[in-house]
This record gives sequence, C-alpha cells and structure tokens, in this order.
Amino acid sequence: MSGARRPKPGARRVVVTAGPTREHVDPVRFLSNESSGRMGFAIARAAAARGDHVTLIAGPVHLETPPGVERVDVVSARDMLAAVKAAFERADVLIMSAAVGDWRPARKLAGKWRKKDDGSETASLELVKNPDILATVARDKGDRLVIGFALETGDGLRRARAKMKRKGADYVVLNDASALNSERASVTIIGRDGSERRIDARSKDEIAAALVELTHPAPAQ
Ligand code: CTP
Repeated sequence: MSGARRPKPGARRVVVTAGPTREHVDPVRFLSNESSGRMGFAIARAAAARGDHVTLIAGPVHLETPPGVERVDVVSARDMLAAVKAAFERADVLIMSAAVGDWRPARKLAGKWRKKDDGSETASLELVKNPDILATVARDKGDRLVIGFALETGDGLRRARAKMKRKGADYVVLNDASALNSERASVTIIGRDGSERRIDARSKDEIAAALVELTHPAPAQ
C-alpha cells in the first residue's frame, strides 16, 4: 500500500469515490452505470499532490492508482457504502464522484439466469432500491465537508440545488452530460451558502484542483 504517509500540517483526510458500481444478476451479468472513473481519480491525484491523506474508493475501472493514494476496490453500492462509512469515520471530507447504481436485483442467482430456456420472449427483473451513500453518510457528518455530484438534464441548477438539500451535501458539482467519457468538462459548483461557480470546458485535472481548493478554506483573518 502506498498511502501510509503522515499528512502534512493543514492537510485534510479526504475520502473520494469514483467509477460505477455493479449489481450482479447472476455470476456473469450485472447492472451498471456509464462512468470511466476519471473525475474521481483526478480529484484523488490533486488532493494527494496537495499533501492530503486520500482514500480512494473505486468501483470497477481500468485506471492506475494515483501516487500516494490509498485505494479500496469495491463492486456493489452496498460494498461502497460500507467502505465509505469506515473511511469517513476518520476523515474531514467526502467527495462522492462515483456513479452509484440506484437499483439492484432483488435476488442474485447462484447459477446463470436461464429464463430464455422456457421459450418466453419477455422477462422481468425485480429491482430493489440501493442505499443512498451520500445521504446516509451526510446525516451524521457534523462539521465534516460532504461534496456530491449531479448529472442533470433540463433545469439542471434547480434540480441540483434540490438534490443538495435532500441529500444534506455542502456542495454539489453539476455536470453537463458531455462530461461522460470525455477529457474536458464544464461544471457548476453550487454551495449550501448560495454560492455558484461556473467552470467552463476545462480538463478534469483543472476541475479536480478547483474542487480540492474548496476543501481547504482560507483561514479566518
Ligand atoms: N449517490 C449516492 N448513492 C446513491 C446514488 C447516488 O451516494 N445510491 C450520490 C452520487 O455519488 C452523487 C449524488 O449522489 O454524488 C447524485 O447522484 P445522482 O445519480 O445524480 O442522484 P440520484 O440520487 O440517483 O438522483 P436521480 O437519478 O433521481 O437524479
């Protein structure tokens, strides 16, 4: 493990989630979300480069662990919740950039799903709701900082504000759908304090650096 460094003075303990989650239907099939994990890995890299102690909780992605970052690999939303709860206990900041699956199959079959063998042209899958990791952890966050992401269509700002309130986050990073699997992104960072900051067509590394700055508020004069 490369993350066992002593944090620098003023450094923060940061938990970042990244990538999709997977919910298995059977041993070879799963439900998942589109997500490269690049934004979360860029945030982890930027925070570690600033001297923070970073725990990166990653769903299944093909990305290298940034230098100095402690990585925990998970598969399902419930695995991710358990890993986030454990890491957040001793952290100052949580940044939820993972694309967590909202639903999982009510049952995971031990063998392959062979529904088609009965000659039927349709099949249905019963789904149950996954826990909301951000909302669960934010409930008891105290003065720790929690940052969420939102990918919205339509009236994005209004929806993102409502999501921030509903989930109890301090900030929400509103992403344009163009961010998916692309090198550049445009985001609006909205805060509980009413703040709104637009960052247009920047690399994910630049956006990551701006987010990390948010977690290091300037000391009061
Ligand atoms: N999130 C989470 N747990 C979930 C679903 C989402 O922690 N089960 C987090 C994401 O990591 C993100 C934020 O919540 O930081 C918003 O995710 P999004 O998918 O936009 O929100 P949903 O709650 O799924 O809302 P909807 O799909 O209805 O827009």
